[in-house]
Amino acid sequence: MSGEHTAYGTPVRVCRLDELPEVGAAAADIDGRIVSLVRTADGAVHCIDDTCTHANVSLAEGELDGCTLECWLHGSRFDLLTGEPSGPPATVPVAVHHVTIDGDDVYVALKEH
Ligand code: FES
Repeated sequence: MSGEHTAYGTPVRVCRLDELPEVGAAAADIDGRIVSLVRTADGAVHCIDDTCTHANVSLAEGELDGCTLECWLHGSRFDLLTGEPSGPPATVPVAVHHVTIDGDDVYVALKEH
């Protein structure tokens, strides 16, 4: 059986690129799902689920550290590429969604479970 690949939904336009922080995170609502859109220092835009997997905390309110977003409450850092937490107390990864930039527009395809 294959089925190892990750499935994504239809890309949805979320905002303009210049509506994101130059470097940092902003929360967005995509069809009722709250995500963090994160622009890193190298200009790349990433999108992960906004809610920490340890407790109900918005990761967009945390600190960007390289290619990780740190939960402000207990300090687990979530990798923007894999969603994996760096260490406890969070142990479960957040979903990583697929971002495309088309001109000035940011599109996100939500990861399907
Ligand atoms: S709420 Fe995020 S690490 Fe505890």
